Amino acid sequence: MNNILSPSILAADFTVLGEQIKAVCEGGADYLHFDVMDGIFVPSISFGMPVMTSIRKCTDLFFDTHLMIEKPDRYIERFAQCGADGITFHIEADPDNAGSIIKHIKETMSLKGKPIRAGISIKPGTPISAVLPFAADADMILVMTVEPGFGGQKLIPETVDKVRALRAFVTAEGLDTDIEVDGGITEGNISDIVKAGANVVVAGSAVFKGNAKENTARLMDLIRL
Ligand code: DX5
Ligand code: ZN
Repeated sequence: MNNILSPSILAADFTVLGEQIKAVCEGGADYLHFDVMDGIFVPSISFGMPVMTSIRKCTDLFFDTHLMIEKPDRYIERFAQCGADGITFHIEADPDNAGSIIKHIKETMSLKGKPIRAGISIKPGTPISAVLPFAADADMILVMTVEPGFGGQKLIPETVDKVRALRAFVTAEGLDTDIEVDGGITEGNISDIVKAGANVVVAGSAVFKGNAKENTARLMDLIRL
């Protein structure tokens, strides 16, 4: 299984977004990470459906959609129609309905005619025990390595232990669930986080600060097995 880099456009220069996306494609990225924030689940407000619709027209990249919103179930179809390939929601946003939200996501078709891949995420303060019951049904578990809400933060070291424990669980159960990390990933720590067990790595600032094509290529080299 090849490790995947998912550049987060939250850190991109929106005045030249098309060029920035071209750069990460040329750098070899297969995913693009969309941080959708509603100002309620997290303090900030980012962007949503129109931005995704617009970008879908210029690339076939896998759209990795990270919903940091209340009641995420409301928006599954709409993001699918805008071009999402994967949709990840936070268990903290609707803890009682996590199982049915995963099912709903997987039953929804992408514009490419494939079932949407379902991800479930935990904030740094939520233990992995909260998502273990869903590890077999979800396609991906996202372990936040910073508090969700803003790019450019420092990785919280304790979250790496959660990744390690989750990888041990997934391996012991014989599952092929992806483990994604998001927040504070740098050239300096990306190899360690992959060694700890993450196979999908989100990076915002580390990709878009400076030359996005070169940064993408370098980060991808560092996570190649
Ligand atoms: C934080 C977002 C992250 C963020 C990562 O709420 O989920 O995806 O953009 O940015 P960096 O890599 O700059 O920490
Ligand atoms: Zn994110």
